[in-house]
Amino acid sequence: MEIEVIKFDNLGRGIGYINNKIIFIPKSVPGDILKIDIVKEKKNYLEGRIKEIIKPSKLRKKVLCPYFASCGGCDLLNISLSEELEYKLHKINAILKKNNINYEVKEIIKNSNEYYYRNKITLKVINKKIGYYQGKTHNLLEINNCLVARKSINALIKEIDKFSIINGEVTIRCNNKEELLIIINSSDKLANIEYFVSNYNIVGIVLNGKCLYGEDYFIHSVNNHLFKISYNAFFQVNDYISSYLFNLINKYTTNSHNVLDLYCGVGALSLNVSDNVLSVLGVEIVENAIKDANFNKGLNKKENVSFICSDTKNILNKISKTYDTVILDPPRCGVDEKVLKKIIDENINKIIYVSCDPFTLVRDLKILNDNYEIKDFHLLDMFTWSEHVESFCVLEKR
Ligand SMILES: C[S@@+](CC[C@H](N)C(=O)[O-])C[C@H]1O[C@@H](n2cnc3c(N)ncnc32)[C@H](O)[C@@H]1O
Repeated sequence: MEIEVIKFDNLGRGIGYINNKIIFIPKSVPGDILKIDIVKEKKNYLEGRIKEIIKPSKLRKKVLCPYFASCGGCDLLNISLSEELEYKLHKINAILKKNNINYEVKEIIKNSNEYYYRNKITLKVINKKIGYYQGKTHNLLEINNCLVARKSINALIKEIDKFSIINGEVTIRCNNKEELLIIINSSDKLANIEYFVSNYNIVGIVLNGKCLYGEDYFIHSVNNHLFKISYNAFFQVNDYISSYLFNLINKYTTNSHNVLDLYCGVGALSLNVSDNVLSVLGVEIVENAIKDANFNKGLNKKENVSFICSDTKNILNKISKTYDTVILDPPRCGVDEKVLKKIIDENINKIIYVSCDPFTLVRDLKILNDNYEIKDFHLLDMFTWSEHVESFCVLEKR
């Protein structure tokens, strides 16, 4: 079957039409003329797979990754960086418009390195084969390098088989000094630990939550702040964009007094703004992350910061008029509605919302819309070549 790709959808897939029915074709590009197979047929839509590119779109560019056709990671690697940035900007503005949020985002902040930027990857191991999942499946794609992972992580990927893992998962994290923390979940006995320790800059190996070598954390630095990050604590995957984000948050907290940092992780944003303000309270659900946050308070000599370990929706009594600014940096599921309603009820002056999921961000902006006005909105290309994008949004009371 032949088809012309008209545009991208909000998940980075090309869209075409067959007899007025919409079809989504992963890895296709607007302007492509394709021969396709239909792989899924639903009442309202179809899903297709490229069989042959009859005429490539002018937007296509040479793909440098040998795994692109099957990998689920970098769906936009076949267009130029400027097209990728344009796509993300357009996508956000389309989602805002569709949801009647009257704001146009004008700019997207470029990554400093379009390749080798990720400080964390997770590999699957199935029957001794090592790689990523293919597309949105649980089928393994064997890999021995990753174009977006930091080079020190890439060096290790090539040798992960030496651990002799049969089935499991391996996460590799890298800090600003290119020190590596390896986190393995597997019931297999690991081999060659000494080999890895003597050949790589490894600060810790953690197996099933227990430290096998070195430490179960590392110290990372962004914008002259030091962060202890435990093996299972969150930290942003792109250091350049993190640094940019920290600067943006600083800019918008210079007139703040008391800041509530909800979903605070290891305290990155709390500590970052602490010099601007009288006090900061950070709230985070992961116990290890809160232990790190308290450690990081001492490490950075910040007296005006404190932390609570809790689900955000269980500390509604802490969300009060005492705070003039709330930072929200939730996981992909967004902010609990009760938390948003409490912020509205307490009349808190400013909200700084950092989001990795535009759909839940816009859902939450709709709840805030009657009471808060968007004052600034930046997109950040945190996850270059994937369809994902980071948003930074400042809202003030109407
Ligand atoms: C996107 S991360 C942001 C972390 C931090 N602001 C930073 O910049 O490093 C979201 C954080 O929210 C935490 N989290 C997830 N659900 C939560 C909840 N219901 N209540 C509190 N924290 C939660 C996660 O553990 C994670 O650390």
